[in-house]
Parts: sequence; structure tokens; C-alpha cells
Amino acid sequence: MGQWIDVAALEDCGEGKAIEVLVEGQVIAIFQNEGELFALDGMCAHQGGPIAQGHVAGGCVTCPWHGWQYELATGIQTINRQPLQKTFAVRQRDGRIEIDI
Ligand code: FES
Repeated sequence: MGQWIDVAALEDCGEGKAIEVLVEGQVIAIFQNEGELFALDGMCAHQGGPIAQGHVAGGCVTCPWHGWQYELATGIQTINRQPLQKTFAVRQRDGRIEIDI
């Protein structure tokens, strides 16, 4: 059983938006896309770019620094198909966002 941690208000990460939170020293990017929440390591696996500032389209986020692209749901890098970006379980509860690290 994981440990769910309250990280933000749901209204702070509305549809089409992304936020960055710091949880136990770890930067985590949270996205709401098509009504679903996703949580990934907030620092790009390439050189640490800010994933939360990336462009989201087609269920993927593109890192703003050099364009590496990851699936929101799996963290798979779309070119080499490897799960390079860590993902976390995320849920909404009573208007709050919780993640399981
Ligand atoms: S740091 Fe993200 S693509 Fe280079």
C-alpha cells in the first residue's frame, strides 16, 4: 500500500494546465489532460529541463529545452520507446491532488 501525499488543490491544476510541486525533495510535474491527472518526475531525463513547462499534445509532453517527448501516462520517451521519465500514481480527492511516491 502506497503513501498518498496531498500536494495541491485541484483548482490549481485545471484542464490543460500543469504545475510543479516539491515533495520530499523531489520535483514533480502534475498535468491535467482531457480530465485525467498525470504525475511525472519534474526534471527531464535528458538534462533536467522543466517538464511542467512543456507543451502537451496527443497525450505527450514535450520538454521545452531540447524537445524530448514523453507519454504522460507511462513516461516512455517517444523516440526510443524507453520509460525514461519516472511516473507516479496520482488521484484527486475532495478537491485536492494526492500523489503516491
Ligand atoms: S532537458 Fe529535456 S530535452 Fe533536454
